[in-house]
Amino acid sequence: MSKEANCILIVDDEQMITDSISAYLELTTDLHVFTANDPVEGLKCVDQYPIDLVISDFLMPEMNGLEFLRRVKEIQQDATLILLTGYADKENAIRAINQIGLYYYIEKPWNNEELVKIIYNGLEKKSLISELREKIEELQISKSEINRLYNLLKVEYENEKENIENVIISLAKAIEAKDKYTEGHTERVKELAVKVGQKLKLPAEKLKIIKTAAMIHDIGKIGVPEAILNKPGKLTQEEFAVIEKHSIIGEEICKPLNTLVATRKIVRTHHEKLDGSGYPDGLVGEEIPLESRIITVVDIFDALYSDRPYRAKLSLERCIEILEEDVRLGKLDGKVVKLLVNMIRQGEIEL
Ligand SMILES: [Fe+2]
Repeated sequence: MSKEANCILIVDDEQMITDSISAYLELTTDLHVFTANDPVEGLKCVDQYPIDLVISDFLMPEMNGLEFLRRVKEIQQDATLILLTGYADKENAIRAINQIGLYYYIEKPWNNEELVKIIYNGLEKKSLISELREKIEELQISKSEINRLYNLLKVEYENEKENIENVIISLAKAIEAKDKYTEGHTERVKELAVKVGQKLKLPAEKLKIIKTAAMIHDIGKIGVPEAILNKPGKLTQEEFAVIEKHSIIGEEICKPLNTLVATRKIVRTHHEKLDGSGYPDGLVGEEIPLESRIITVVDIFDALYSDRPYRAKLSLERCIEILEEDVRLGKLDGKVVKLLVNMIRQGEIEL
């Protein structure tokens, strides 16, 4: 059956009533009118056709109108329900309004014109309710779709994060492959910097940034010729200028990775000094992020305490002296140096 025209069902045990209403409606409206003279037959009709509105008598032998309309509601939840009652059934009509959301009750005898008006208003209400229900269902579908996409994205994000972490580890290894004197250096800088950060009670996300930055702080050395990196003698001013570029190159390498925004700032600033004598920007004091000041200190310490192309490893005491001297000169963060030295002296750091 086409759903263009509205379908209505009239149920009354008196055939004269159903015939009379349906004849009037067929003559004056474009409604599809179904009739039934007992509720069981009525329910079959509701089950079989897309009934939009039901007009039912109250007193019927098989089942009363209230029970009948309650069952209609189970089959066609949006159908508009109208009770056609005698005056004495008013109380039942009120009960029906509360219990099954009855739309209207019409007292017998009824006025045909009035009845048509009520039917059309009821049909409009039904169509609004159906529309609203469809919208709600659409929203619920969207909500579950959003949840599904969110979960998918979460999995993707976790995978991506893992990939990026692997890329970082590969990058760190790439530096060591090129600069043989940094072998093990990045790993040690990472461990020392994280320990200092923990001692400073930095939050977990900052510790993570320190860890990543420590691993890749010298990534820019990929852009420095090996002959300069591994030169055994003293570097010329020009060669030193080439080496200095590794902070900026490192930052450039990190730029395409959004997750490295905070890290790349540390990569750029890990050779800055508090007194402005560092490179590449000559930043001063607090302009240098704390994470970077930590990495600078442990980077210098590890470089001093390792064999380099141009000199052998220095004694622990000499390394500490040099760091403390740089604090006095206003170059290194005194608090960070003090923490590192204390941790070394108290055996909290294994060298
Ligand atoms: Fe460096």
